[in-house]
Amino acid sequence: MIITIDGPAGSGKSTAARGLARALGIAYLDTGATYRVVTLAALERGLDLADADALAQLARGLDVQFVPAPEGLRVLLEGRDVSDAIRRRDVTENSRYVASPANVRAVLVDLQRRLGAELGSFVTEGRDQGSVVFPQADLKVYLDADPAQRALRRAAEMTARGEAADVQGVLADILKRDASDAGRQTGPLCRPADAVVVDTTGKSIDETLAALRAAVEARA
Ligand code: DC
Repeated sequence: MIITIDGPAGSGKSTAARGLARALGIAYLDTGATYRVVTLAALERGLDLADADALAQLARGLDVQFVPAPEGLRVLLEGRDVSDAIRRRDVTENSRYVASPANVRAVLVDLQRRLGAELGSFVTEGRDQGSVVFPQADLKVYLDADPAQRALRRAAEMTARGEAADVQGVLADILKRDASDAGRQTGPLCRPADAVVVDTTGKSIDETLAALRAAVEARA
């Protein structure tokens, strides 16, 4: 079974995907992590982020592994656990350079399909999972929420990690990422026509999960 969850930053995709995967007893695939790990590697190597060919070459040659662990998949870059490092704010802010060029996305879409084939049954989340990467999915979900609520969630996550978070700054970053996620030529954030839309504004995690489980049952 393949379930895709797409939506903008802070709509609650990763929490929802992780929770749904656990409830169904299947794997969780975090495709944002594939963009983040390339961004981290590019920053560490001092690459020019505007050079899409250099980024694509980097992405093609990177040794990235997703290793199952009790708390979810751990991300290894050349054998080093970078699961926390890829959540840093500088990585988040610069990820759009990796997420925009078509040649870089092509490499990462291949990687995601390979990871999916290894997992078999999984819940995946991102921007283009139902529309581009797994159009054959059994269930497609589009999660949405008000920008202000999404900024509050992101700020709470950052505070929980011990990072300074000012909600206005996070909101500005989110609006910038929305524009760049929706406006790019390849794999833009969009709502697949056959997706079930779930708006998480004002919903608790449990309420969102209940809506998702109802959508799964309606498809069964
Ligand atoms: O969901 P996230 O914040 O971890 O995403 C990190 C970056 O990758 C962000 O710039 C959006 C982008 N992304 C994408 O373009 N397509 C995906 N399927 C997943 C993430």
